[in-house]
Amino acid sequence: MCGIIAVTGAADPLRILLDGLELLEYRGYDSAGVALVCSGDAGGFLWRRRAAVRAQSIPELHKEADTAPAHARAGIGHTRWATHGAPTEQNAHPHLDCSGRVAVVHNGIIENHREIAAGLDARGHVRTSETDSEVIAHLVEEHLAAGATLAQAARALLRTLRGDFALALVSADEPDLIVGTRRTSPLIAGRADGLGLVASDISAILGLTRNLVAIGDDEVALVRPGSIAVTDAEGNEVAQQLLQVGWEVEAARREGFEDFMSKEIHEQPRALADTLLGRIGADGTTELEELALGPHELRSIDRVTVIGCGSSYHAGMVGRLAIESWAKLPATAEIASEFRYEEPVVDDRTLVIAISQSGETVDTFHGLREALRRGARTLVVTNVVDSLMAREADGALYTRAGPEIGVASTKCHVAQLALLQVFALHLAALRGTMPASASARLAAEIARLPGVLEDVVGRFEEYRGVAQALAGVNDVYFLGRGLGYPIALEGALKLKELAYVRAEAYPAGEMKHGPISLIVPGTVAVVVATKGRLYEKVLANVEELRARGASVVAVCNDDDDTAPRLADAVLRVPAVPEALVPAVAVVPLQVLAYSVAKARGNDVDRPRNLAKVVTVE
Ligand code: AGP
Repeated sequence: MCGIIAVTGAADPLRILLDGLELLEYRGYDSAGVALVCSGDAGGFLWRRRAAVRAQSIPELHKEADTAPAHARAGIGHTRWATHGAPTEQNAHPHLDCSGRVAVVHNGIIENHREIAAGLDARGHVRTSETDSEVIAHLVEEHLAAGATLAQAARALLRTLRGDFALALVSADEPDLIVGTRRTSPLIAGRADGLGLVASDISAILGLTRNLVAIGDDEVALVRPGSIAVTDAEGNEVAQQLLQVGWEVEAARREGFEDFMSKEIHEQPRALADTLLGRIGADGTTELEELALGPHELRSIDRVTVIGCGSSYHAGMVGRLAIESWAKLPATAEIASEFRYEEPVVDDRTLVIAISQSGETVDTFHGLREALRRGARTLVVTNVVDSLMAREADGALYTRAGPEIGVASTKCHVAQLALLQVFALHLAALRGTMPASASARLAAEIARLPGVLEDVVGRFEEYRGVAQALAGVNDVYFLGRGLGYPIALEGALKLKELAYVRAEAYPAGEMKHGPISLIVPGTVAVVVATKGRLYEKVLANVEELRARGASVVAVCNDDDDTAPRLADAVLRVPAVPEALVPAVAVVPLQVLAYSVAKARGNDVDRPRNLAKVVTVE
């Protein structure tokens, strides 16, 4: 959450900062701001501009470009997702010290900010915001006043600050220098011809350089034009961790689509095809060479716990069912933010799989660390190569969906589903728990999924037509059984986050144990009713709803005549083996949420109160 960009050595640093902020905006869009380091006749000074117009702050900053000093060469920028303090201009970053000569941009949360602020207030500092971040600028001010350099001040911060943070600092007295440091929240540095860069996210600076360095926990990066030096918290120079990047910068543009979400829905067949590339052999065997967990280690596993948040957790629910039924290993799926505090019983025979599109979600990251601390074997399924979690875990499997910019996860979710199922087949083969012919058949069906999805995303307008009727609803139930239940959860999450409509997902068979009393004539229920073991039972549940007047939208197969007769509207999908239904049936629900949100005039790429990457607890 929140985005950071900093540059030094540029002829027009403001342009680089604003371009970078546009690419970072998906991380938070409550406000944005920049500070330039300028030199004047009377010495160096900082020029700062901030704006807090939700999702429109960057255009506001553009309007200030004419007033920016021409001689600035360095600067820092930030786009904010509010945690401490309202989304106002006063609380927008960069924050300055009392002298206005130090500026900071910060991601994460400073947990001991109240205690620090009390000390600063007692020592006469004047704070002007309600944020936890501003204390950093004042602490730096004190260190500089005591004779420290900016880098020494940053190292001192590491001893004082508690919490998760990434920050970039500039000082009017060291005009070419950007200092970056972090703990848990990610931060990278980059260098190009005469340029030095710092950012929270690769996509912000990928257009300028591919020479990227990951700044480690409690390391301090000193970035100057064309150079990067990284030290530990004591000031000793450390080896730089070079970052690999698989994306092209163009992949992060809208390419003629109305918004990123519709582009990413349409990209799902490609995302799946790329994710599966080289991972399923012609004979149906699975190839996961990059796994880094060898056959011996995987055979010694006697239990699997899958952790994740939001859509990644829903993918984890599907993955855990595949692991249990194909590899015959006891498997559970847990919400990462709960798992961490549950005193989980895991040991060196437990495989903990952390699923995270971004590889940065702090709840999942801490869950992963908890698993590592307790001695579990760990695997990360993520879309971001070398991301925070990928570097921490024993092994990483990458979905190759390309950058996902829309806040709602779509293509990454389906890529996670397929990759987890390939992994489940891989485990089953190693453990000999599935006849080779059955496993080869399923693998071949998984390999066919990109083609099936091509057909499904081709029905975008058809699904959109069905969704129009739901534009005015305020309450929707999403129901499914077996693998239909995680799909229902995902459909409800999408409708909530994008359309701001109350949506509840329930296992269809559980409705009669309470929630059915909420069904009155006209209540809308979206039911996953694709063919499979529980199809008849789901239809019986649909009858129960209809008997109470519910209006039913059924997700059903093309060749089904029965479910449509019971439903008021249908979202048809092609038939695939039951195990693979989630990746197919989730698509109409994505389009449903997208269409209702659009009909209500909502910004689907930047829904209110959310951010793409959740780096706070
Ligand atoms: C999904 O549409 C969400 N925006 C959200 O639930 C997301 O899946 C969750 O925050 C986890 O993110 P991650 O995959 O990057 O860890």
